[in-house]
Amino acid sequence: MKKTWFKWAALGAPALVIAGCATYPDPATTRRVAEKMVNESFTAPAPALLKRLAQDKSQQICSKIGGAQLTQEEAAEVTRLARASIKYPPSGKLVGDWKRGDKLAHDGAGDRIQRGRLEKRKENGGLCQNCHALAPGEINVGNVGPSLTGYGLQRGTSDAIAKLTYERIYNAWAYSPCSNMPRLGATGHLTPEQIIHMVAYLIDPQSPINSR
Ligand code: HEC
Repeated sequence: MKKTWFKWAALGAPALVIAGCATYPDPATTRRVAEKMVNESFTAPAPALLKRLAQDKSQQICSKIGGAQLTQEEAAEVTRLARASIKYPPSGKLVGDWKRGDKLAHDGAGDRIQRGRLEKRKENGGLCQNCHALAPGEINVGNVGPSLTGYGLQRGTSDAIAKLTYERIYNAWAYSPCSNMPRLGATGHLTPEQIIHMVAYLIDPQSPINSR
């Protein structure tokens, strides 16, 4: 009895493995099929939105299946591409007006579809409040990203901090490859001028985000 069971198991195991291999496509094929399905079924009211279906080089690297880890080489490539994408304002000034930054940080509008149409806005909002805690005491804030409350108090206002902050907002993947922080400057959602206002909002000692 025991022997028969063993024989069947010995015969069955390789058959199962072969069947498994034949049934499940490899990850690259799975990705191709899934992307084709998404591309063919997604409709958008504006051509600008359809462009998002084409993943750029870094997004392709980041779109790993099943939350798989990035290799060191992949992380380095995403970081390199992100650094290369960063453009600075022509004035070279990286700290703008914190009041304008404050407004933008709390403004979640831009590139949204409303009643089947792409909303028309003079400028997009920064969306920061959706993911980050901002000034102390604000309760309607997100927690996808770390709290930015007291950001400038902890870091100061040096040129190095202004540059780091600008770059993190322009393309967060220059520092955290494939993170959930949107590449707000690199994707064209925010302009360099808007980003310098965000930098001021984060580091200016007068900004409410740094009030004690
Ligand atoms: C979709 C969510 C999301 C949005 C929207 C978002 N962030 Fe982030 N942010 C994150 C996440 C997640 C991190 C942590 C990973 C990283 O650093 O990329 C982060 C990190 C940061 C950091 C680095 C924090 C540190 O401690 O050094 C800064 C600065 C920052 N965000 C600023 C902003 C600003 C300013 C905006 C709006 C213009 C914004 N973020 C919008 C998710 C978001």
